[in-house]
Amino acid sequence: MDNSTSPWWKSSVIYQVSVGSFRDSNSDGFGDLRGLLESLDYINDGTPRSLGADAIWLNPVMKTPFVDFGYDVSDYYSIDPRFGTMADFDELLAECHRRGMKLIMDMVLNHTSQDHPWFAESRSSRDNPKRDWYIWRDGRAPGKPPNKWKAVVEGSAWVLDEPSMQWYYHAFLPEQPDINWRNTEARQAMLDAFKFWLDKGVDGYRLDLINYLYEDEQLRDNPHKLGVRMYEWQKHVYDRSLPESVAATKLLRRITDSYSERMMMGEVYTDTPEEAAKYAGDGENALHLSFYLDFAMTSWSAEKFRASVDHLEHLLPEKAWPCYYFSNHDLVRHITRFARGGDAVARAKVAAAMILTLRGTPILYYGEEIGMPNSRIKRSDMVDPVGLKWWPIPVGRDGSRTPMQWSASGNAGFSSARPWLPVDPSYVTVNVERQEHEPRSLLSWYRSLIHARRETPALLAGNYRPLDGMPGGVFAYTRELEESCAAVFLNFVSRPQSVKVPSRPGGGSWKVLLSTHGPGGDELEPGKLRLQPDQALICA
Ligand code: NOJ
Repeated sequence: MDNSTSPWWKSSVIYQVSVGSFRDSNSDGFGDLRGLLESLDYINDGTPRSLGADAIWLNPVMKTPFVDFGYDVSDYYSIDPRFGTMADFDELLAECHRRGMKLIMDMVLNHTSQDHPWFAESRSSRDNPKRDWYIWRDGRAPGKPPNKWKAVVEGSAWVLDEPSMQWYYHAFLPEQPDINWRNTEARQAMLDAFKFWLDKGVDGYRLDLINYLYEDEQLRDNPHKLGVRMYEWQKHVYDRSLPESVAATKLLRRITDSYSERMMMGEVYTDTPEEAAKYAGDGENALHLSFYLDFAMTSWSAEKFRASVDHLEHLLPEKAWPCYYFSNHDLVRHITRFARGGDAVARAKVAAAMILTLRGTPILYYGEEIGMPNSRIKRSDMVDPVGLKWWPIPVGRDGSRTPMQWSASGNAGFSSARPWLPVDPSYVTVNVERQEHEPRSLLSWYRSLIHARRETPALLAGNYRPLDGMPGGVFAYTRELEESCAAVFLNFVSRPQSVKVPSRPGGGSWKVLLSTHGPGGDELEPGKLRLQPDQALICA
């Protein structure tokens, strides 16, 4: 097992920022890079007064018509004016580095926007030199797409282009045609874009839909299976997770490794954790961090979380490193998901203690540290095409993308103009300003956890050992690294629980490092410990 704290991406806390929703500096109602620059002290000012995240992952900021919020890139070499300029980006990168922080960009290699000039050329005629840069095919019969593949967002994955009477393939929205990774020139164009930002000095990438790069060359139909949505009626054996996509991550890894200290984390969009593990390669030759959706989708249960973590620990190759997240721009914010039948903030504190003490890199989503809920968005305010397509079925993603709640003042201090998505009404009480100086706030809890983590080698890099014999509703584990050790007790239920305290490796008694109930510093009595309802307790 590899337990070293370097390289940086193993010991970092990564903070995900949707720039458009973070802070608006130019009063157009839309968040921008300068707004983020102005907020860096909040993320990390080098003292325990700030959140203390080590790295920032930016949702896409490249030029885009913004149909899918930047996941539809129309120029890989420029910053979209909504977010600012290349000069703003350079300043942000330099400022992050000056603070010892890392900056990770989102990179969309699977598809471009339909507005990308490459696609305009490709679409212009059947014999255009870029025709094969995208996936064009004749229909099976007049009016019938080439095969039965479905788009993730639903419906056929093919669009008929009437002028040329051929169909193009899109795994996601029709406005996001898939690049043909089998075409050497198209692939090279993507690799050049990939190198461009590394040459600029970005510290790494979050790779969008990385297991979707390749499709079956013969376009074979997927086998059927049962599911709720149309997309789930198929076993995706021919349209995603092909071995060629794993091979592509290995190629990308070789490029990344030719620069110093860079990393790639990848969105492996799959319902089988086994598949996410494949993209970790042998731990050194594919993704540095492979997203593990299974953990994020786990419901509020000590037993289920333990099972999910144990499964990943078992699946990952020895040299690979786990990473965990609960929330992101596609998911319902976890404070809202976990709240059912319990105290939302108390559970959010337990969840934070878990994600910041497990073996692996934690990825936090902006606003989770203050407990921003998932917002209910009225139909008339919706902007997400997924939400609009499915309305009134609430699968849209706008609710997790609302503006950061900085204060109780107008528009939550996000902007002086009307925000592009409504601010959640909770901002009056749930905001940074209110929690900043309140020692028992969720924000203070996140700060304490992040700082304690940094100072405890076992929490950064120690091995993970789940503790058996816990009462139902308690997830407990130890972390150990040479002389440093930690024990974590998480009570998922709102009743007191008695737990057995393991003896401290190396002798001596456990000292409370952090607790949701009461101050740290106390020594734990050997033997039994009584956990309070919804208590998280970390000892060292
Ligand atoms: C996954 C991204 O997280 C999501 O927001 C986006 O819509 C799709 N990929 C398509 O790029």
